[in-house]
Amino acid sequence: MSTITNEVNKRKTFAIISHPDAGKTTLTERLLLVGNLIRTAGTVKGKKSGKFATSDWMEIEKQRGISVTSSVMNFEYHDFQVNILDTPGHEDFSEDTYRTLTAVDSVVMIIDATKGIEAQTLKLFKVCRMRGIPIFTFINKLDREGREPLDLLEEIEDVLQIETYPMNWPVGMGKRFLGIFDRHGKQFVKYNGNEEETYIPYEDLEKGMHENLTTNATFDATKDEVALLDEAGNDFSLEAVLQGEQTPVFFGSALAPFGVNIFFDTFISMAPTPKPRKTTEGVMQPNNPDFSGFIFKIQANMNPAHRDRVAFLRVCSGKFDRGMSVKLARTGKTLKLAQSQQIIASTRETVEAAFAGDIIGIYDPNAYQIGDTLIEGKHQFEYDELPQFPPEVFKKVTAKNVMKSKQFKKGIEQLVQEGAIQLFRDKRTESYILGAVGELQYDVFKYRMENEYNVEVMFDTIGDRIPRWLNPEQQVDESLFDERRMLCRDRNDNYLVLFQNEFALNWFKENNPSIDLIDLFEVN
Ligand code: G4P
Repeated sequence: MSTITNEVNKRKTFAIISHPDAGKTTLTERLLLVGNLIRTAGTVKGKKSGKFATSDWMEIEKQRGISVTSSVMNFEYHDFQVNILDTPGHEDFSEDTYRTLTAVDSVVMIIDATKGIEAQTLKLFKVCRMRGIPIFTFINKLDREGREPLDLLEEIEDVLQIETYPMNWPVGMGKRFLGIFDRHGKQFVKYNGNEEETYIPYEDLEKGMHENLTTNATFDATKDEVALLDEAGNDFSLEAVLQGEQTPVFFGSALAPFGVNIFFDTFISMAPTPKPRKTTEGVMQPNNPDFSGFIFKIQANMNPAHRDRVAFLRVCSGKFDRGMSVKLARTGKTLKLAQSQQIIASTRETVEAAFAGDIIGIYDPNAYQIGDTLIEGKHQFEYDELPQFPPEVFKKVTAKNVMKSKQFKKGIEQLVQEGAIQLFRDKRTESYILGAVGELQYDVFKYRMENEYNVEVMFDTIGDRIPRWLNPEQQVDESLFDERRMLCRDRNDNYLVLFQNEFALNWFKENNPSIDLIDLFEVN
């Protein structure tokens, strides 16, 4: 096997998605402990309470006490090279969160057992489904009284429209939590109320050992439930999992911790390694000897002292060597990738080599855009354009001082290029309208316009709007639009309509049935 194939087959690149407070930070920290990247619990979590602020690269992050940006963590685990991409977990998450999902090969979805599926999980899940990303589910907080496991699985199947396969099954919960039946490993994992787990093979239970357990009524009833699941439940299919059609479900507690090791071992053994990716010229194999990759995120001022920009690149084929020359597919220009970093939590280490699945940070001399493809050799292709994700909050933006319109335009142009916020132009008035996935992006935008471009900006809210794109093949009749259904152009000059609310959207649909309205969440 070639070195490249060998390296690619070791890569497990994934993101953890969840609604805020479901336990993403706690679970991530557990995984970093397992991977020996940190030595004690509390290192990552402390960040929230201000004890650990080195990754708070922007003032605004410090003020809000949250992580605006996402980083990459990597470590070796058994024979694998694990890359975890962090996704901003706050309610005000951004398009970056969505885009991060384009750079991973699988996703771990955390669900709080006391709450079930929450809004943010649903949004991120939809993106995974659109892209066919395999999803592994971890139902967290079993050490608390939560909802019935069957009820949670039913909700996942109904709301998310994905088949579930419980890899393990909990016995009791909260104070009565005894452990899990590990259906996959054919063992009972006993919860001892501390970090030690006891592994009891099914065989030993059948032999009549561990009487104190087997005579417990909850244990006994759950054993019957598991037998029923084996008989009447869904069959496990790794193929369906890898196609994103079935999700293996694990129960546990990230805090206890309990069930984390079993979850992680099984996940790592099943999660896909980097797959071939579609390009404008067909499919590119991850072990193709020529390097290629795409930029999914651009971040400015990670180090306020240097005011630099870092582009996050997902390697899709070949081998990245520091200092290599590559071609930027969009312009045909050749660039030397001299400064490359691996963004590990807050520290930056220079990367000498990287393979498909790896994420590297490269110095951006203001040359890159989100979605750019970098290639080595004679190839002429681009990776499938990153999808545009629909913003939810829209505001008109103007410069407080009209004399500053030059800086204003420059600032908007650059910040829009970084992709945290989208720019639209009102067709009638030509005014600038910003669209973002969350409110926080406006604070970030305002802050950066003032600090980096010296322009104070004002926002005029036009409320939460429902964006629908028009079919570029259809003629646009401008007389159909007004304030309630605002006709705008996006940065690619495509027309879209910002509907004031669901009612305005439905009214328009009923009265103009021949006009196609495209919901970006439903296409692809
Ligand atoms: P997030 O990154 O998804 O936002 O969640 P995070 O890990 O910060 O967890 C949110 C809260 O839930 C934290 O409590 C955390 O300790 C708790 N938690 C996480 N996993 C479990 C679990 O398995 N069981 C229980 N009982 N709780 C869990 P907090 O009080 O909000 O924060 P802190 O004071 O512990 O920092």
